[in-house]
Amino acid sequence: MSVILAIESSCDDTSVAICNNGKITANVIANQTIHENYGGVIPELASRVHQQNIVPTIEQAIKNAKVTKQDINAVAFTRGPGLLGSLLVGVSFAKSFALALNIPLISVNHMHAHILAHFIDDPKPNFPFLCLTVSGGHTQIVLVKDYFDMEIVGETLDDAAGEAFDKTAKILQLPYPGGPLIDQHAKLGNPKAFKFAEPQIADLNFSFSGFKTSILYFIRKQEKENPNFIAENLDDICASVQHSIVQILLNKLKKAAKQYHIKEVAIAGGVSANSGLRNGLQETAEELGWQIYIPAFQYCTDNAGMIAIAGYHKFLKNDFVGQEVSPMARMEF
Ligand code: KG4
Ligand code: ZN
Repeated sequence: MSVILAIESSCDDTSVAICNNGKITANVIANQTIHENYGGVIPELASRVHQQNIVPTIEQAIKNAKVTKQDINAVAFTRGPGLLGSLLVGVSFAKSFALALNIPLISVNHMHAHILAHFIDDPKPNFPFLCLTVSGGHTQIVLVKDYFDMEIVGETLDDAAGEAFDKTAKILQLPYPGGPLIDQHAKLGNPKAFKFAEPQIADLNFSFSGFKTSILYFIRKQEKENPNFIAENLDDICASVQHSIVQILLNKLKKAAKQYHIKEVAIAGGVSANSGLRNGLQETAEELGWQIYIPAFQYCTDNAGMIAIAGYHKFLKNDFVGQEVSPMARMEF
């Protein structure tokens, strides 16, 4: 029997979840809207808001899961990677909570947890499978051999896929985070209206910085001829950019699946909420006979449910850490 409380505070969302015998019974997420005004996450503001949100979020999760503090057997927390000031709030709280209740601590790698989110609901993937993890900070193709035996077989050399969405949105004068807004506009536009070149990277790695620059130059050129170009073509621009990013991601995923002879394929991370990517993966699966795994929306972007399930699998192995543990902004995969 196990009740695990999990805390996620790596970036700008404070989240707390409860895992009761392998089932997520609460997943509370307090979003920080303050960063919208700045066009990106401001680390100092993020840690201050985590401090304000952490106690009410903990209390809400305990209430939603209908447990008491005395029922909790272990505390799992995101150790990294992420913003140090943000991680510090979650790690410090987890340590004090564990000390006060005299229960063990479980350290979780945020990137592992995005992948392990696939073990929250059914159907669950079979090992080995490939996972495309696409978020605001990472773009990785991971060969997942077991819960904690994972190998990165491809990753971005510069910007992450989420950054490609967010930076394009900024060029289009949309607020931060722009990924979900591009997705909304893309639904109304023509994905073939404009063409953007696919970066030429030979192996399973990605590059998005040149892609972003090519969009910037394209928009500037068009605006010289028509100052209202963005406003008049917003849906088509968003649909075309989204289509290009999705093609870049899916082409590498196809290449990896072929290279490793794997037909079990998953997506994870914030960008896996993107409707173009979800639909594109579905089509590819039908074409190539893949078994695919797409997380529920609440487990795509940062959430503590994924930390809780990762914590549960560590709990089963008695894999605990001591009070000397500290956050790691750049945590090894
Ligand atoms: O995993 P996540 O919540 O945080 C990080 O660990 O980075 O990912 C956030 C990223 C942001 O770049 C955001 O714009 C992107 O995921 N995102 C999306 C969508 N929803 C979130 N990008 C495209 N389409 C979406 N629907
Ligand atoms: Zn994340």
